[in-house]
Amino acid sequence: MNDQPQSPGPRPKAADAKAQHAWLCRAINWHNHLYYSKAEPEISDADYDRLMRDLEALEAEHPELQTPDSPTRQVGAGVRDDLAKVEHRVPMLSIENAMNEEEARAWLKRLSDDIGDVELICEPKYDGLSCELVYEDGKLKVASTRGDGKIGEDVTPNVKTIKSVPVKLKGKFPNRLEIRGEVYIEKKAFAELNERLEQEGAKTYVNPRNTASGSLRQLDARKSAARPLSAVWYQVANPEDAKLKSQAEAIDAMRAWGFVTSKDLLEGSPLQVKTLHGEQAVLELFRTFHTRRHGLPFEIDGMVVKVNDFAQQAELGVRSKSPRYLLAMKFPPEEKETVCERIEVQVGRTGAITPVAVMTPVMVGGVTVTHASLHNADEIERLGIRPGDTVMVHRAGDVIPQVLRVVKSAGGKPFHFPKACPRCGSELVKLDDEVVIRCPNHLGCPAQVLGAIVHFTARTAMNIEGLAEKNVQQLLEAGLVKDPADLFELHGKREQMLELERWGEKKIDNLLAEIEKAKSPTLARFIYGLGIRNVGETVAGLIANEVGSIDGLLAATEEQLNEIEGIGPIIAQSVITFLHDEHNRRLIERLQKHVTPQAVKKLAAGEGKFAGMTFVFTGALTKFTRDDAELMVRERGGKASSSVSKNTSYVVAGEKAGSKLKKASELGVKVISEDDFAAML
Ligand code: IVH
Repeated sequence: MNDQPQSPGPRPKAADAKAQHAWLCRAINWHNHLYYSKAEPEISDADYDRLMRDLEALEAEHPELQTPDSPTRQVGAGVRDDLAKVEHRVPMLSIENAMNEEEARAWLKRLSDDIGDVELICEPKYDGLSCELVYEDGKLKVASTRGDGKIGEDVTPNVKTIKSVPVKLKGKFPNRLEIRGEVYIEKKAFAELNERLEQEGAKTYVNPRNTASGSLRQLDARKSAARPLSAVWYQVANPEDAKLKSQAEAIDAMRAWGFVTSKDLLEGSPLQVKTLHGEQAVLELFRTFHTRRHGLPFEIDGMVVKVNDFAQQAELGVRSKSPRYLLAMKFPPEEKETVCERIEVQVGRTGAITPVAVMTPVMVGGVTVTHASLHNADEIERLGIRPGDTVMVHRAGDVIPQVLRVVKSAGGKPFHFPKACPRCGSELVKLDDEVVIRCPNHLGCPAQVLGAIVHFTARTAMNIEGLAEKNVQQLLEAGLVKDPADLFELHGKREQMLELERWGEKKIDNLLAEIEKAKSPTLARFIYGLGIRNVGETVAGLIANEVGSIDGLLAATEEQLNEIEGIGPIIAQSVITFLHDEHNRRLIERLQKHVTPQAVKKLAAGEGKFAGMTFVFTGALTKFTRDDAELMVRERGGKASSSVSKNTSYVVAGEKAGSKLKKASELGVKVISEDDFAAML
């Protein structure tokens, strides 16, 4: 991505798909930029995932809107600037897509018009993340992501954790070898990982592809080792050096060197990698891949057709972005008919009421679908859906169930939003400036209480592990907790906890230890954990810096908050409304009995040990989180910045520091280790 991302502005009306698409791309690129390049995200991961899911759903419904540079096809913001950069000697291009058989036929016809009858070879199109391996003298030197095609990111330590990547080659090989393929997560491993995360009370992942991407691009290779990554290799980027004449030869050569190829993955399945001729044979194989895809242990989203002979490939050459000798035939999004039995409403953490279609179970894309969000009243009206209707469903982005349209109306009664909350009976409200309908009973509504506690304990908030939603639900049902403050009194309720299903001594010990640990969070995490509307992690940090303590928070005024750089009137008001609520104040006061946030010392300008100094943190820190390290700098009167300039006093380099180190040495900025930094504290 070359253009500097822009703040997205207000979201357009739902009905205009094109405008929605443009806005979602802008918004996601903007948040990628904040997250990856500035390391200052403005929205939560969940909100980010929601944008991504909206975009995936939209593109699944309107495939014509998907451009090659859509964020759904990108790896984060191109290149993460804290991972070192790697230039690809041969650019990593994309492949032309055929969205249906007609487009594939047209491509094949052009091909035969160009060079006559030609031998083709077909492989699955893997839905993962492309990766390049460079070997010198048979040893793995560098592994990199695709990035923008010319420059990718160095992910060598992470790739080395993948079992199927040979660190040393077998047999005879050229001095230099550039191998390309796809890193992915098997469906089963993905499901198991999510199950584990859910049990641990951690956030689950949306789909295998994003998970693979996130894991591969982890700064901490230990973390990616904990993720079940797999890889398959499908291209030798410098075949002339290995004297290879065709893709079929390249596959065999890669196997001999020790790589896992499509041939290995399809072994034992009815699918095969084979050379063939002509439209008929290609289309037949494509249909076989299509019907068999769900039987494969990994996700594929189509079939790649390749001209087998490298001399012919060279003759055909490359168009601006994609070679002429390759075609990706994409599977059509899978749609199934079923019946919408009823429309229910769900209550979220903030009281938002979401209508959900409950359907007769149906297999879509290898998964049983029973529920699909209908989002809001506008969407229900747009679909014209009523209970009893036959509907067409699919899985947006191959994951999220979605109702596409009503196929046959059953003439049932139109759905009306309930007037009362289905969970607590409170009268629902609609605020003027919002589309959503809410339950206002934030403290009494069981759905919201559950959401509030789950949010309070989240990894990004108080970071209390062991409180998956199911566990919180059990504690709530047993009356052992009613709000986040009650968590800190659980240690007196061991006996009752032991009576809960699937709760043993060990689980309780772990949980109590986690709760004990959470008693001295940063003030920012504490404020974020309160779940104040419009207060994300970054904003919570800004507020914490200003108010300095829980008492400071309780005493904050709207004017004071308004004056904080980065906080506008909407946020200030939302914080004040929260603080003025009687119950919220009482909750904070009760929490204050147990929780002592680490002190934030407010300094006047020019005061403090680090006054006048600017620090930049890069690479993976092991002693502190980056947020905490930056907070410690600010507490001492210094500044923390995300980019190195001549005004930077120190670059603190963690493990695997990347481009920022180079910049520092270019500018003559002093680089210190994490230990040096700790000593300065
Ligand atoms: S050959 C010019 N073979 O799909 C790239 N690519 O949508 C030649 N992909 O960037 C690569 N499965 O990452 C090839 N069997 C396969 C593939 C495959 C997935 C990826 C590749 C490419 C992307 C384009």
